[in-house]
Formats: sequence, C-alpha cells, structure tokens
Amino acid sequence: MNNFTKLGFIMATVGAAVGLGNIWKFPYMVAEQGGGAFVLIYLFTIVFVGISVLIAEMLIGYLGRGDVGQSFEVLATKNKYLWGKSVFMAFTGLFILTFYSVVIGWIVRYIFLSFGSLPVGIENSKELFESFLSSDFIPQISFHTLAFIVVAFIVIKGIKSGIEKANYFLMPVLMLIIFGLFVYSISLDSFSTSLSFIFNPDFSKLNSDVMLSAVGHAFFTISLGMGTILTYSASLPKKTNIVKASFWVAFFDTAVALFAGVMIYAFLFSYTSEANSGPGLVFISLPVVFESFGVLGNFLSLIFFVGLFFAGISSAVSLLEPVVMYLIRVLKTSRAKAVIYSGLFFYIVGILVIFSSIDSTKEYLTWGDKNLFDWIDHITYLLLPLGGIIMSLFVGFVLPRELLINTMKNQMNKVVFNVWIFNLRFIIPIALIWMILDKVFS
Ligand code: PHE
Repeated sequence: MNNFTKLGFIMATVGAAVGLGNIWKFPYMVAEQGGGAFVLIYLFTIVFVGISVLIAEMLIGYLGRGDVGQSFEVLATKNKYLWGKSVFMAFTGLFILTFYSVVIGWIVRYIFLSFGSLPVGIENSKELFESFLSSDFIPQISFHTLAFIVVAFIVIKGIKSGIEKANYFLMPVLMLIIFGLFVYSISLDSFSTSLSFIFNPDFSKLNSDVMLSAVGHAFFTISLGMGTILTYSASLPKKTNIVKASFWVAFFDTAVALFAGVMIYAFLFSYTSEANSGPGLVFISLPVVFESFGVLGNFLSLIFFVGLFFAGISSAVSLLEPVVMYLIRVLKTSRAKAVIYSGLFFYIVGILVIFSSIDSTKEYLTWGDKNLFDWIDHITYLLLPLGGIIMSLFVGFVLPRELLINTMKNQMNKVVFNVWIFNLRFIIPIALIWMILDKVFS
C-alpha cells in the first residue's frame, strides 16, 4: 500500500494545517476581532478542544483505513449507514477550495508584483488591490487556473510521490522563510508594539461573534472537521504514536500563526499605527511597508509571497485529497479522473467566486450583506465545528471501547485517557453545539 512514512505524514499534515489560515487570515482576524482577546480564545480552543479532536480524527483514519465515509462505516458498530453520511465533510474541503484557490491566485499576482515597483502609500496600494478584485477578472481567472493546475498535478501523483514529496520541499522552505522574516522583524522598533497588540487581551471586546470566529478559526487552521486529517491518517504506518503526532501538528501550526502574526504587525507598525485592514492586510499594507525598504523590500516581498504560496498549495492539496479518495472508491475510477471531476467543481465555482467581487457582476452573486466569497467563508466556520462534533461523539460513544483502549494504552496514561474521553463525549459537543446555535439564531 502507498503509505506515508512517519516523517512524511508529519510533513504532509503540518503542510495541511499551515496555510493561508495562518499567514493571511489569522493576522487580519486578530485586528478585526478584538486583538489579544481573540488570540487567547483561539489558543484556548487549540489546547482544550483542538488537540482532543485532532487525536480523535487521526484515530478514526488510522483505525478505519479508508476515506471519510468508509472509515466511519467500517468502525461503527451500529447505524453504519447513518455514520457513513459523515462523508459530507469531504465536500466541505471542496467548498473551501473554491475561495482558497482564488486567494492563491492573488498571491501569484503579488509574487509578480514583487519584481517590479511596489505601490507607494496605503491609498495607492488599496486602489491597486481593490481594482484588481473588482475589475481584473482575466488575470484573476488565469492565476486561479494556475493554482488549479499545480494542485491537480500534485494530487494526481498520489500520497507518496505527490503529496509527501511536495511537502518535503514546501514545508522546510516555508518555515525558513517565516522564521527568517520573523528574526528580521525583531530588529524593528515596532516589534514590541506588535507583541503587545497580539498578546494583550482586552476582554471588553469579547462577544459571541468573536468566540465563534476564534473557535471556527482554530478548526480551520489545524484543518479539523473535514476529513483531511482522517484521510491522511488512513495512510499512516502501523504503530504510529498519534498523540505525539497531534501535538507536533498543533505546535507547528500555532507557532507559525504566532510568528507570522507578530512579524506582519511588526512590519506594519513600523510604517503606520493603523492595524485594521481586513482580508487586504497582507495584500494592501505589507507591499507598502516593503516598498519603504527600497530594493531589500522587493526581496522581502518576494520571499514572503512565495512562502505564502507554498503554504497555500500544501493546504489546497489536502483540501482536495479527501474527496478524491472518496470518488475513487464510489465511482470506481482512476485517481486522475477523480481529480479532474472534483477539480473542475472547485475550478468553476471558484470562477463564480471571482465574479462575486467584480463590479459588473457582483449584484447577481450577492445575497443579503455577503457575496458568494463571504458566504462560503462564513458557512465553513459552521461546518468545521459540526464535523468536529461528529468526530468527537463517534470516538466518545461509538468506537468499541476495547479497540479504543488497546490502541491508546501505550500513548496516554489512564487519567489523561479518561479526561480526553470525557472531553470528547460532553464538553466539546455541548460547547460547540451551543456556539453554533447561538450563531445561527442570533
Ligand atoms: N488549515 C488550512 C489553513 O490554515 C486550511 C485547511 C482547512 C486545510 C481544512 C485543510 C482542511 O489555511
């Protein structure tokens, strides 16, 4: 069987986890959602919810050895048919990919921009980015096509020669870039301002929206609740310590988000005291900051966007793999065909996502106060915790107790095991259900 090696698995799973969520989304969400208070809830969720669900999701794949639907079906002792429906999670990934690939396209545009003259002043930069989004659909579609081709190419090659190999290259380079930029940012006077912006919580800013964003983001950033981790874990070598593997993934993912966040705000505050610029943060503000560094700035901009591109690709690959695994089985088709079918879906909806920001077409793709892009982003943050609830309940109540104990007994002591199960059975589902209902009905 085409299994990962242990290191290959860690690389690929860290690759799945560390993505646009860490470097593009996390920094602007911090500013939008109340700074340090958001960061605190996010960290709290990673430690007390994320790691427990991560272990549960890995365990389902590791024991089930199949795609999302199959693993649930094989392991369920009753209601197999119903549990098999959990396969909807794999489609959440396809759904995320529709906008993810578009954003990777924007990154490609900024890689090219780094070779020429960077925008001078925030106003110019904003204008550049906004006109790109609202009128330049041909370049956007071209870059989205490029992202689609790269992702499809890697996934077609399969787990071992595609995903594992790509991540052996992408992850170390990405880590070096982020860490290098972080070390450079320490030399800026604004470094300490950035630290206190990210780590000083202002609790008056906490409300249910901030909570859901932080929890939803914690799921998004470690790739939980949509079967990526499960699907990768189905190719884990036997006798892997999944508790350790989960800690590594959560650790690297959180470290990259925090390093990237502090680094980005240190650069930003060296130029302006204004933090809040939404999804445009790395596209509008950073190029202007880099511009003020002269030629060195072009270089910094280039490596930053290349790093972001690598982060995006390794996650995009992991968003596609669950559906591909599923389609190979149910359609009894080849990997290449499964990639083309699912790829075409996200490619075409991705084009609609692009048109949902284009001035002349956006009114047809906007409902209420959100366009298609925002709706997909918004719904994702509900679907992932929902996936998390299902996985928690499944491991907590449905997995045969003996199998569970036999698998985990060398990886956790008894007390930790009991706390983990209690957490999966009660605390996590109740907290997440309460949060989702609160959001839906508020
Ligand atoms: N974790 C990725 C990121 O932070 C996104 C992702 C979500 C990838 C779910 C796979 C599954 O960008």
